[in-house]
Amino acid sequence: SQENLDELLNLAVQCAKEAGKLIVSAINKEKKIQTKTSSTDLVTETDKACEELIVTKIKDLYPDHDIIGEESTVLNSKVHLTSRPTWIIDPIDGTTNFVHGFPYVAVCIGFSIKQKVKLGVVYNPILNRLYYAKEGGGAFLNSQRIEASQCTDLTKSLLISEWGSNRKPERLKKVQENFNNFLTCPCHGIRSTGSAALNMCLIAEGRADGNYEFGIHVWDYAASSIIVEEANGVVLDVTSGSVDLLARRVVAAGTKKIALEICANLVEIQDERD
Ligand code: IPD
Repeated sequence: SQENLDELLNLAVQCAKEAGKLIVSAINKEKKIQTKTSSTDLVTETDKACEELIVTKIKDLYPDHDIIGEESTVLNSKVHLTSRPTWIIDPIDGTTNFVHGFPYVAVCIGFSIKQKVKLGVVYNPILNRLYYAKEGGGAFLNSQRIEASQCTDLTKSLLISEWGSNRKPERLKKVQENFNNFLTCPCHGIRSTGSAALNMCLIAEGRADGNYEFGIHVWDYAASSIIVEEANGVVLDVTSGSVDLLARRVVAAGTKKIALEICANLVEIQDERD
């Protein structure tokens, strides 16, 4: 029910704010950094502490809900996203930024039923930007309604994408090819914040017109996908079909035209599904 969704959204906001406090208090201090899948895929004790805080709070109130968290997912294991009520959590999206004190980091909390995202919260505690949305309720940044851009011309667009943490030469070549395609299109520019979720929220806010990324995980784009949709933006899979939460790739834009043009120009990069 809507009432229940409001309650769950409140809980997600509370969790994000509490985790945000941990991030704020740790970002200027020395960090214990570990690597995950490669030397450019990082995790810190703060990622783990934030996830634990959020998971504990959710389990306390909703012990029968499922939880998918970035740091509690065993490396290279499959994610089990079922039709059951499921929380999808990235305690710090933009961990590399966090490590360097670069102020684009976000706590991401999404909630899905039947594999459909019902609400999402993306919170940047450093810049104090709280984005949230629930199904049918519009999208908000710090309590103000946000709207995606109306741009329909790729040659007049500002795009956002990322290099990603996977630097295997063959793969990186394709990432570069995609940057080249859009730069020679030419679009007005391509930006990278280092946080897939904040990139998508910039689309929701209408600050940029289109975004794509390969190699991300379900926790990087579940919460932000509903924020884009509720801001009247468009979220697609790179095949131009509907977004696939486990496909590890996404296209987001203010208009369907830009989203489809991005899809049409992309060289596909294959990553193992979540
Ligand atoms: C990373 C960010 C980044 C993307 C990387 C992700 P994390 O998430 O979303 O934008 O390019 O591929 O791993 O690891 O900081 O949660």
